[in-house]
Amino acid sequence: MPIRSILSGAGGYLPERLVSNDELAAQIDTSDTWIRERTGIRQRYLAAPHETACFMGTRAAREALANAGAGPDDVDAIIVGTSTPDQAFPATAVRIQAELGVTRGFGFDLSAACSGFIYGLSVADSMIRTGNAHGVLVIGSEVYSRILDWKDRATCVLFGDGAGAVFLQAGEGYGSADRGVLSTHLHAQGTLGDILYVNGSVGRRDLPGTLVMNGKEVFRHAVIRLAGAVEEALSANGLTTADIDWLVPHQANLRIIEAMGRRLGLPAERVVITVDRHANTSAASVPLALAEALADGRIKSGDLVLMEALGGGLTWGSALVRI
Ligand code: COA
Repeated sequence: MPIRSILSGAGGYLPERLVSNDELAAQIDTSDTWIRERTGIRQRYLAAPHETACFMGTRAAREALANAGAGPDDVDAIIVGTSTPDQAFPATAVRIQAELGVTRGFGFDLSAACSGFIYGLSVADSMIRTGNAHGVLVIGSEVYSRILDWKDRATCVLFGDGAGAVFLQAGEGYGSADRGVLSTHLHAQGTLGDILYVNGSVGRRDLPGTLVMNGKEVFRHAVIRLAGAVEEALSANGLTTADIDWLVPHQANLRIIEAMGRRLGLPAERVVITVDRHANTSAASVPLALAEALADGRIKSGDLVLMEALGGGLTWGSALVRI
C-alpha cells in the first residue's frame, strides 16, 4: 500500500499586539473605510522585537505537535517557509529544531514568499512518500512588519505578522489510503518577479530592502493563476467543485478570496477567512487559517480541503488534503 502524508495536527501563533485600521490611519494617510472596502482587512497583529520568525514558528509548531498527540521524538524534518528569517543562517528551521528539543533529522528554510507553505507541504509530501522522512513539521513564519515601507500606504496596510504549522506523518495501511495529501501542484514564473519583490537583502549591505508591489498587476494575476491552480488540482484528482468541503485560500485580499469561492461554487460558509483579522501573513496565512478552522471544529476528520496560495516570484500552487 502506498505511503500517504497524513496531516495529524496544526497550530498557529499571532503576536500579542493587535493594530486596528484606525490606529494605522492615525499615523499614515489612509482610512478604515478604504482598507476595508478594498481588502476586507479590519486589523492585523504586529510583532514585538522578541517575536521573531523563530519565536513564532516554534510556538505554532509546538501547538501542531500537541494537537497531533506527537512530540519532538516524532519529528525527523522541519521545513520553514519564510521571507523574513531572523538570520541569514543558521536556517530558521534549525533554530526551531533546537527550541523544540528535536535531536535528529534535518531542517531548512524555503523561499517562495506567500506560497512558502504550499511549497513546503509539497516538498514534505514527496519526502514522506519516498520514505526519506516520517514526521515533518511544515511551518510558515513571517514578520513582514520588518520589511514594509511604513511610508508606503499602498502596501503597509495589507500585511500582518504570524506563524502557522502542520505536522505531517507517514501513514500506511487501513484507513490511510484515502486520507492525507492527495496532490500538490507548484508553479513559478520568474519573468513576473518585478510586480512583487523586496528591493534588497542581507546580501546587500547598502540596501536591507523593503517590499515593493504593483497591486493591480498582482491582483490580476492572482485571480487568473489561482483559478488555474484550483482547476488543475480538481482535474488531477478526477474531482469536481462539489467534492470540496473547504477552501483554505491564501489570505491576501477578501475580493480575491470571494472571486475564488464564486468560481468554485462554494458557499461563503465553506471558505475559511482570516484576512479580516490577520491581514496578509504571507507563508503563515494558509496554515494559520487551517489551524483556526480545525481548532474551532469547522473542518472535521474526513473533510476534503483545498489550499492555494500565490506570492512574489511569481510563485503559486495548490494542495488537496483529506483530513
Ligand atoms: N489608503 C488610502 N488610499 C490609498 C491607499 C491607502 N492605504 N493605498 C492606495 N490608495 C489610493 C491610491 O493612491 C489611489 O489614489 P489615486 O486614485 O488618487 O491615485 C487609489 O487609492 C487607488 O489605488 P489603487 O492601487 O488603484 O487601488 P486598487 O483598487 O488597485 O487596490 C490593492 C489596491 C493593493 C488593495 C489591490 O490592488 C490589491 O489587493 N492587489 C493585490 C495585492 C495582493 O494580493 N498582494 C499580495 C499578494 S501575495
